[in-house]
Amino acid sequence: MIKIENLNLSFGTRHILKDVNLNCDRGKTLVIIGTSGAGKSTILKCICGLLKPQSGAIWLDGQNILKLNKKELNKIRHKTGMVFQYSALFDYLTVFDNVAFGLRKNTKKSEEEIEKICMEKLTLLNLSHTRNSYPDELSGGMKKRVALARTLVLEPEVILYDEPTSGLDPITTGATNNLINFGKNHLNMTSVVVSHDLMTINNVADNVAFIHDGRIIFFGTYKELKESDNPYVVQFMHGYTEGPIKTIG
Ligand SMILES: Nc1ncnc2c1ncn2[C@@H]1O[C@H](COP(=O)(O)OP(=O)(O)OP(=O)(O)O)[C@@H](O)[C@H]1O
Ligand SMILES: [Mg+2]
Repeated sequence: MIKIENLNLSFGTRHILKDVNLNCDRGKTLVIIGTSGAGKSTILKCICGLLKPQSGAIWLDGQNILKLNKKELNKIRHKTGMVFQYSALFDYLTVFDNVAFGLRKNTKKSEEEIEKICMEKLTLLNLSHTRNSYPDELSGGMKKRVALARTLVLEPEVILYDEPTSGLDPITTGATNNLINFGKNHLNMTSVVVSHDLMTINNVADNVAFIHDGRIIFFGTYKELKESDNPYVVQFMHGYTEGPIKTIG
């Protein structure tokens, strides 16, 4: 469903993604891990068409999205949904209106249908009581769940989650992991998840990619990741301050 080939992206003179190759089969979940600033969010933004890399290919359901014109890209964009790292909710809209936004804009569904779909997802995420609240009135974890609900209601074929469980308590993390798996098992969604949370990786990943300084240096299952003797992976998994990854302080 997703195949990334030799992707290179620079911001000005800073080379951020360096010959990135990745793939994820339809209905599977790929987790991307790596240190802060490695390029994880940048990869997700390339997949959903928000950033345009300088070279390489991103195949989405058989189409190289880097070769599409604006109209074609808009069409394929509806196949992907992104749950942003920092929620990116509309502050001037209520929780319900935030979640309903995409359905109202991109579908011809009636308000009754929209009400049903949105309330179902809000209830699943234990948010139904917040439907008339504004984002400002919510905790960080609640905002994260609203952002998740907003993307899930659109039932995209490909869903990109940027750190969906960071800052959430273990029970809400478990519920979020269940949702990621629900999308996979019941809606055949293909998911790419950026996460450092070992519980999340263990629960959702079919494959894990480790990115360091813009390069993929490991790709395999979670079991292979845990057993890997790659010094970068070992340092990261154990949180060692000594090793090939330079740490601050
Ligand atoms: N729009 C931008 N303009 C310039 N530089 C950027 C931009 N977006 C990201 N960068 C830089 O690209 C690098 C990768 O950023 P990215 O957000 O992909 O990191 P990340 O792996 O998601 O990190 P984190 O775990 O902290 O979220 C960083 O050095 C960042 O400063
Ligand atoms: Mg990020």
